[in-house]
Amino acid sequence: MAEAKSTELMEKLVSLCKRRGFIYPSSEIYGGINGFWDYGPLGAELKRNVKDLWWRHIVHRRDDVAGLEATIIMSPRIWEASGHVDTFSDPMIDCKTCKGRFRADQIDEIPCPQKPSKCVQDCHGEKTEPRAFNLMFTTHVGPVRDDSSVAYLRPETAQAIFAQFKNVLETSRQKVPFGIAQIGKAFRNEVTPRNYTFRSREFEQMELEFFIKPDEVIEAIHGSIATPGEGHPGEPQPNWGWQIWHKYWVEERIRFYESIGLPRTTLEEYWQTPEELAHYARATVDILFQFPFGTQELEGIAARSDFDLSQHERFSGKPMKVFDDELRAAWKQLDESKQKDLRQRYHDARLGYLTRTGVESEKAAQLAKEDADGLAKGQYVPHVIEPSAGVDRLILALLTSAYSEVTETDAKGKSETRVILRFHPRTAPVKVGVMPLLKNKPGLVAKAREVRDLLLPHLTVFYDDGGSIGRRYARQDEAGTPFCVTIDFDTIGENGPELEGTVTLRERDTSEQTRVKIDELLPLLIEKSR
Ligand code: GLY
Repeated sequence: MAEAKSTELMEKLVSLCKRRGFIYPSSEIYGGINGFWDYGPLGAELKRNVKDLWWRHIVHRRDDVAGLEATIIMSPRIWEASGHVDTFSDPMIDCKTCKGRFRADQIDEIPCPQKPSKCVQDCHGEKTEPRAFNLMFTTHVGPVRDDSSVAYLRPETAQAIFAQFKNVLETSRQKVPFGIAQIGKAFRNEVTPRNYTFRSREFEQMELEFFIKPDEVIEAIHGSIATPGEGHPGEPQPNWGWQIWHKYWVEERIRFYESIGLPRTTLEEYWQTPEELAHYARATVDILFQFPFGTQELEGIAARSDFDLSQHERFSGKPMKVFDDELRAAWKQLDESKQKDLRQRYHDARLGYLTRTGVESEKAAQLAKEDADGLAKGQYVPHVIEPSAGVDRLILALLTSAYSEVTETDAKGKSETRVILRFHPRTAPVKVGVMPLLKNKPGLVAKAREVRDLLLPHLTVFYDDGGSIGRRYARQDEAGTPFCVTIDFDTIGENGPELEGTVTLRERDTSEQTRVKIDELLPLLIEKSR
């Protein structure tokens, strides 16, 4: 029953998104292309708002994060260093009967292409053994199409941040701890794209790499490391180690979701178990949302140790270590046993990384010793906390959360059910609908256009003069517009001077209507949309 309801909601959402211009299938006039979606006029505005809000939250309102906009195609060496060339794959199997190709771990859930209403299990076709299928899209750079010209469409935005770490550090005058943020397209050739825009082959990411000092460095400078308690740990402090920074970013990201209309109660925190963690990760928290098709990941916040920068240091031969004056000065003040202890811990962590990544044992021992010696000189490879969010998933979560239906009965007893998208005004694609009460009264139309032109430079406005005012309100409710402004005969003084120069302001969520002076309209709407 619950499943039927969820399917029904999903169908309603998909149909609404198409009908109102939020999301269309890509290349639809040619039959579409599986795993690709376009955003229509309302969807494009919604997406732009979400990205702007993330950028403001992560970059603009802080002084310890800088932005980056890197290319989609980068040196293929980046993807060797990151591990994507060797390990970024899904297990794939083929059905010898229906010729379908499936992810081995989803075989029970995927419809057979020959009998879409049936589960692939019903096909009973003989299946091949699972084999690894690399998810990166390949292309060729330049006129020669051979192995030497192969390049990849980036499968994540994160790696460009690591590759440009030194440039950003030097040009932004930041010091560890600091972050680099990027929003951009990423591409994964999913074996089976599914759940509408949730798992598509081209998508957008909003990623922050927040670089921090290793715990041994914090301990050398501050004597001890602050440990996380319950809830948000508050303003960042110099003695924070990786665990408290990780907790901080989990809480910050939940605050962000709350601020754009996804209450904490709609989100779940899932702490990955040690078996689930990637080999380089110390902890990963998934923020989950209840989509109609199940509770799924909206964002992952990973404590990735110094794996990424270390990999790029080894593969590029360019140093990724930072120099920290405070560490060098503090190190000299430590007693010998403390130096020995910290040095040993740092050495063991570096040796562990080098050994796990296949560095030959003698070389690994030599490099780990050099790295540990670097502490006394104030040198280390920064660790990183990575909050990584999917824009398209978030759009789908916002649409799901905003979707509501109301049933109204008119004076003649006729009932009608209509949709209201209750977006937070911050994310709403259109902030204000502006409407003359009647479109055939030049005085009303002229005034309505004047009001539209007053608001247009500051807010997204939709001017609508078609149909009854009730129909026009309903259309805006369905688009998620939080406010409508109506220009009527009172506005133009036809009913006397008392209400001249005022308009009706109608609120989507309460249907409440108030009279507002045109002079006060813009600051009021800006305040309400903030
Ligand atoms: N950078 C993490 C991810 O793309 O999932």
